[in-house]
Formats: sequence, C-alpha cells, structure tokens
Amino acid sequence: MSDEKYNRGARALHWIIAVLVIINLALGLLHDPLEKVVQLIPLHKSIGLTVLILTLGRIGWRLSWTRPPWPGSVTPFERGVAVTTHFLLYVLMLALPLTGWVFSSAGKYPLTFFGLFPWPKLPISKDNPLAGLAHEVHEVFGFVMLGLVVLHVLAALRHHFLLKDRVLRRMW
Ligand code: HEM
Ligand code: HEM
Repeated sequence: MSDEKYNRGARALHWIIAVLVIINLALGLLHDPLEKVVQLIPLHKSIGLTVLILTLGRIGWRLSWTRPPWPGSVTPFERGVAVTTHFLLYVLMLALPLTGWVFSSAGKYPLTFFGLFPWPKLPISKDNPLAGLAHEVHEVFGFVMLGLVVLHVLAALRHHFLLKDRVLRRMW
C-alpha cells in the first residue's frame, strides 16, 4: 500500500511549500489595502525567497523518482490536465520569486532574509526595462497562480469527496 503514496520527502515539501505560497499570495494581494496599517512586503519577500530555495531542492528531488501509479478511475484527459497543471505550478513556484527578486533588486529598499542576513541584489538598475517587465510579469503570474491553485484544490477535493478515490490520501 505504502508504494501508492508520494514519498515522505515529496509530501513534506508539497505541504510546506503549499502553505508558504498561499500565505504569500495573501500577503501580496493584501499589502496594498493594508499599506497604511502594516508593512507586509518585507515578510512577503523573505517567504518568497524561501519558496525559491525549497522549490529548487524539490525539483532536484523530483527528478530522482517517478510518481505513484494513477488510480484506474483517472481518464487520460484528466491525467493530461493534472500533469499540465502540476508543471505550470512548478514554473510559477520559480517564476514568481525570480521576477520578485529581479524588480526588488532595482528598488531602493535593502533585501534581507527575515532580517537575519542581507540577501544579494541582482545588478539591475532602476531604469533597466527588465525591472518594469519583471514587475508586470510578477503581477500577472500572481493572478495566474491564484487561479491554478483554486483549480488544483477543487480537483483534489473532487477526488476525495465525490470520486472517493486515493488521490488526496497519497499526497497526505
Ligand atoms: C511564492 C512566491 C511569491 C508569490 C506567490 C508572490 C505573489 C505576489 C502577488 C500576488 C502580489 C500582488 C500583485 C502586485 O501587487 O504586483 C505580489 C506583490 C509583490 N511581490 Fe511578490 N510573490 C512572491 C515572491 C516574491 C519575492 C521573492 C519578492 C522579492 C524578493 C516579491 C516582491 C513583491 C513586491 C515588492 C510586491 C509589491 C509590488 C507592488 O506593490 O507594486 N515577491 N507578489
Ligand atoms: C499553493 C498551493 C499548492 C501548490 C503550489 C501545489 C503544487 C503541487 C504540485 C506541483 C504537485 C505535483 C507533484 C508532483 O507530481 O511532482 C501537486 C500534487 C498534489 N497536490 Fe498540490 N499544491 C498546492 C496545494 C494543494 C492543496 C491545498 C491540496 C489539497 C487540498 C493539494 C493536493 C494535491 C494532491 C492530492 C496532489 C497529488 C496529485 C496526484 O497524485 O497527481 N495541493 N501539488
């Protein structure tokens, strides 16, 4: 039975990164309306950089194993949607922190890792067009990620509560 589950490392990384990404989507979207009350962006940046480090480790680890076999009830179409969604989630888990790092490097505020030590800025000046582009991509990708996470969670809940198969339990 145990070989039908994702391995322990994959499950741990999945849930740690999921929590951090959900917190960061919320911090990113709330920072503007709450700007006068609390500064959320320094925490947002440090959590985002943590996601970058963990995702690089996760992808390296992911390349060393194959996913457990699909339950028989999953159709080829559903597999295609799942594999595409997972791939795009990996792309966004890298692209959001990287674009954030790029345009924040051009900003006036210092970058730190939870205030513990300085995080290096990339050599990008304020008037470099890459900074503006990275900022726009960050914003658009943030909303794309929100949409994909909602789709992904609805799919997991559908498997668990409607189809009553093992898909959610094998990631738990
Ligand atoms: C999991 C990683 C991340 C996610 C899901 C994420 C998501 C978001 C979202 C949804 C927004 C609101 C849209 C906007 O105002 O542009 C935002 C804003 C922002 N993000 Fe991120 N982000 C991540 C990582 C980072 C990193 C690593 C940095 C910098 C080192 C960063 C810097 C910023 C800044 C400065 C803003 C405010 C932009 C503004 O007000 O114009 N983000 N982020
Ligand atoms: C921001 C949040 C999340 C991200 C970025 C994310 C990302 C991913 C990725 C990339 C995979 C593919 C794993 C692989 O094969 O390498 C995956 C699988 C999975 N995720 Fe998430 N996830 C998130 C939240 C959630 C939540 C909240 C749930 C449950 C309600 C969930 C349930 C699952 C399940 C059941 C699988 C296994 C699907 C399968 O067996 O094919 N995820 N997730």
